[in-house]
Amino acid sequence: RMIDWNPVMAEKAGYNHFMQKEIYEQPRAIIDTIRGNYSLENSSVSFPDFNIIKDAVKDLNRIVIVACGTSWHAGLIAKFYIEKFAKMPVEVDIASEFRYRSLVIDEKTLFVAITQSGETADTLSALRVAKKMGAKIMSVCNVVGSSISRESDSVIYTHAGPEIGVASTKAFTTQVISLFMFAMFLGQERKILSRDECGRYLAEVVRLPEVIENVLSKDDLILSLAKQFKDASDFLYLGRNVNFPVALEGALKLKEISYIHAEGYAAGEMKHGPIALIDKTLPVFVLCPKSSVYEKVASNVEEVKTRDGIVIAVVTEGDEGLKDICDYMIEIPDIIEELSVFPTVVATQLFSYHCAHLLGLDVDQPRNLAKSVTVE
Ligand code: G6P
Repeated sequence: RMIDWNPVMAEKAGYNHFMQKEIYEQPRAIIDTIRGNYSLENSSVSFPDFNIIKDAVKDLNRIVIVACGTSWHAGLIAKFYIEKFAKMPVEVDIASEFRYRSLVIDEKTLFVAITQSGETADTLSALRVAKKMGAKIMSVCNVVGSSISRESDSVIYTHAGPEIGVASTKAFTTQVISLFMFAMFLGQERKILSRDECGRYLAEVVRLPEVIENVLSKDDLILSLAKQFKDASDFLYLGRNVNFPVALEGALKLKEISYIHAEGYAAGEMKHGPIALIDKTLPVFVLCPKSSVYEKVASNVEEVKTRDGIVIAVVTEGDEGLKDICDYMIEIPDIIEELSVFPTVVATQLFSYHCAHLLGLDVDQPRNLAKSVTVE
């Protein structure tokens, strides 16, 4: 009898693909990433290895975040966190755009590179430009000893572990949690975030593994949605506020591995264009958890339904408002708006994964894409 086994299968630990394994590793990866960075007793956040930037924190007046691909989406979310917790202006840029402008950067600027691999050519070149202009350099990186980590003044390492699937999943969520903790750290050092507030946020952070597990337990439901929609030719993803970058990320993931055309849009911007695309054949994936913009997104859902679009909504458990309006719902646990991006993005990851797998595509190595892009 042939032994149907090889070392790669062993590494996949029983999962069909690395991407699937990596999606399921997220609760663990998040715990590993923030371990040692917070104290629930003291309601505080700390980055012990952070000497250079810690001293400079009071002098900094601006943060510029630069990244590519999925890491750029993590940067877009981080902007919300830093502006809220530390009240510092944040600009987020795509690395290949950043270098070709007249930059306003000096010693009071903190430049933050976000990169899983630490080797992305555009991000590395952007870092070098910012360094030359006097900025302090920090990176959020998953690979110890990588080029970008070596050229940074301070590094926050994401402890996602090796990410093999080309489409980034656990690297993304660990970047986002690192940046959430970093934003709280800045807020604390700048005396903007009170101890009470910090304690309240930390209490939500430690719930994340369980919240993500809950979404993973909805895998069968998400698989059934993928079965229904895998043959769609187009998809629209909508979100607002912190969930707008998740809409971009959900659409990117679907494009990357399922080769289904998808657009991510700020829900409120739909009326300025994409609404023209909506008809009874267009599935619209809406990220609508309980939040400060819930009512606004709900009314965007109604606009889609008025035009016969098909709505798949990610909502908070017990949501009554959208029940009768949308066609399909994926319920996620209740968590503060800032952290709702974790359960919403995991739902989009599973959906893209199943679409690609059902279509018989090479999930871990999609055509034309590379894990790390070392050319400009
Ligand atoms: C490639 C990968 C993406 C990744 C991007 C940035 O395009 O396929 O998954 O988000 O590079 O990579 P980095 O290693 O800098 O995060």
